Amino acid sequence: MKRPVAAFAGLGTYSPGKILTNADFERMLDTSDTWIRERTGIRERHIAGPDETVAVMAREASLLALQEAGLAPTDLDGIIVSTATPDRPLPSAACDLQALLGATNAAAFDIGAACSGWLYALLVGESLLASGFAKRLLVVGSEKLSAITDYTDRSTAVLFGDGAGAAVLTASDGTRGIIAGHLKSDGRLAELLYRPGGGSVAPPSEQMLKDRSYFIKMAGREVFKSAVRSMADAADRALEQAGITGEQVDLMIPHQANIRIIEATAEHAHIPMERVFINVDRFGNTSSASIPLALDEARRAGLVKPGMTILLVAFGAGFTWGSILLRW
Ligand code: ACO
Repeated sequence: MKRPVAAFAGLGTYSPGKILTNADFERMLDTSDTWIRERTGIRERHIAGPDETVAVMAREASLLALQEAGLAPTDLDGIIVSTATPDRPLPSAACDLQALLGATNAAAFDIGAACSGWLYALLVGESLLASGFAKRLLVVGSEKLSAITDYTDRSTAVLFGDGAGAAVLTASDGTRGIIAGHLKSDGRLAELLYRPGGGSVAPPSEQMLKDRSYFIKMAGREVFKSAVRSMADAADRALEQAGITGEQVDLMIPHQANIRIIEATAEHAHIPMERVFINVDRFGNTSSASIPLALDEARRAGLVKPGMTILLVAFGAGFTWGSILLRW
C-alpha cells in the first residue's frame, strides 16, 4: 500500500431546493413511479433554478470545504472543476468559480470525464501536489444535468439531477488520504452516451433545435452493461494496488447512477450492501457531483470515521471509469 501524498482537508456540498419526484414525471411522461424505482432506484432528484448555475453551486460547496479546511480562497494555488455542463462553452467553469470565490492566486482549469470526472480531478490534484506544483487545491464536481436533459424522452429524463461537491486537497501527513487510484477510458464507445449537437462539428442551428440533438442521448441497456463491467474492474484495480480485498473495505461510495449497477459492483467486490452508501433514491444521477454528495452525506450521517478504508468507484460518458481508495 502506498504512502498517501494527498489528503482531504475539507469537504462541502450544495444541493438545490427544488425537487422533482417520480409522481411529477408520471404527470409529464408515459412512465410510472414503480418502473422508475424498480429499474433505477430513484425516487426524486434536486433540480437547479435559473440562479443556481454550475459556478454558483460550486461556490457554495467550495466555501463550506474551505471553511472546514480553515483556508481562505486566496490560499488556493489550484482549482480543478469537473463538469459536463459548464455554464458556457468558454471559458472554463473553473475560471468562473475562481472569479466568484476571489481565489486570485489559483491556476484554474476544467476536467471533462463526465460521471468519473471527480475521481479524475482528485488524481490529477494528487499529481500536482506530488510534483510540488501546488500545496492547496480545490477539487470540485458541479453539474446542472437538467440543462441538457430532454424532458420529453422518458428513457433519460427520469435519471438525472443537479448539485455540487468540493474537496480541499492538501499534503497528507503520510497516514491518511489517497492510498490507491485507477483511471481508464474507452473512446470507441462514445456514441452510446453523448450530446451530438452544440459543439464545433454541429454548432447551434435551427436543425439542432428541431432534432433536439443538444440533449443527452443514451443507449441505456448498452451503457448499463459497460457500467457494470467497468465499475467491477475499477474496484478490483484499486483493491489490488492497495493489496487488500473487498472484505477489508469499510465503506464503498459508488457513483450514484442506478441501484442495480451499484449492487452488481458491490457483489463483485465482495462488499456487503450494509457497507455501501446509497443516495441515488433522493438525488438521481448528478454525474461528477454524485460521489462528493454521497461522501458528504455519509459523513454527516456518522458513517465515516478516522482510519476507515473507503472505496470510491465511478463510470461515465466517454466511456470513462475509475476508482480511488481513501484512508480517512
Ligand atoms: N418509464 C417507463 N418505461 C420506460 C422508461 C420509463 N422512464 N424508460 C424506458 N422505458 C421502457 C423502454 O421504452 C422499453 O420499452 P419496450 O420494451 O417497450 O421497448 C423498456 O422500458 C425497457 O427499456 P430498457 O432501456 O431496456 O430498460 P432497462 O431495464 O435497461 O432500464 C435504464 C433503462 C434505467 C436507463 C438502464 O438501462 C440504465 O440504468 N442504464 C444505465 C444508465 C446510466 O446509468 N447512465 C449513466 C451512466 S454514466 C453517467 O452517469 C453519465
